[in-house]
Amino acid sequence: MKKAKTILDIQKMKADGEKISMLTCYDYPTARIMDDCGIDMILIGDSVGVVYAGYDNTLPVTMEDMIYHTRAVVRAQPRALVVADMPFLSYQTDMVAARVNAGRLIKDGGAAAVKIEGGENVAAVIEAITAIDIPVVAHIGLTPQSLHRMGGYRVQGRNHEQAERLLADARAVQSAGAFAVVLEGIPAALAARITAELTIPTIGIGAGPSCDGQVLVIHDILGLCEKYAPKFVKRYAELKPVIAQAITSYIQEVKEGSFPTEGNSFN
Ligand code: KIV
Repeated sequence: MKKAKTILDIQKMKADGEKISMLTCYDYPTARIMDDCGIDMILIGDSVGVVYAGYDNTLPVTMEDMIYHTRAVVRAQPRALVVADMPFLSYQTDMVAARVNAGRLIKDGGAAAVKIEGGENVAAVIEAITAIDIPVVAHIGLTPQSLHRMGGYRVQGRNHEQAERLLADARAVQSAGAFAVVLEGIPAALAARITAELTIPTIGIGAGPSCDGQVLVIHDILGLCEKYAPKFVKRYAELKPVIAQAITSYIQEVKEGSFPTEGNSFN
């Protein structure tokens, strides 16, 4: 049995100055590949709603969706620390619901930690969940579940007042007990300031190079999502033409009768 990474390993990486690698993942085969490559943290993000299920945003994602995809990833028995996103309305309404839903992602999904969007406004929720021994990753800055409040997916913290508010959010989630915090869509200099001030690791997405770690959406780095192309994404592969080529060849061979051959058939 492989020894899985714990939140202590992740926190030690900040102390040791070792960068933390994190990717989203929603299924078993990809989790196997990612883990074999040595990823530190796997996030079952509610981005599953956009890049996998085809919604326009993450708001329709349900607890059932998150549990289903978390189970699929956990079945790969990754060494990486598995974090599951708490979807919209699973933690904002009341503390009991927040605790029960966080608990379901651990108990039914098999995750080791949950992620919650928000800063000072969710500090009490983070306290309530960590008080029942469920580790929490906070997520501040551009928080996709706040799409309508932000008026779109916009970089946050650009002016002085917003930057001070984000610093206050970062301090609040750390004090509330979060063991790490995702910084999304904020200026690199502000992310550097937050990273230097906090004792917990910061994991950036569109937050520059100074964060303690980085996270990206797997479909984005593989060139599988054409819906949007944020500046912070780097495509490490272009898999869409590779997949299209395989499917086109299959269709062609079926049509012309060259598949299946004897080798693909039973006697
Ligand atoms: O849902 C998600 O994939 C995320 C990451 C982009 C941080 O929250």
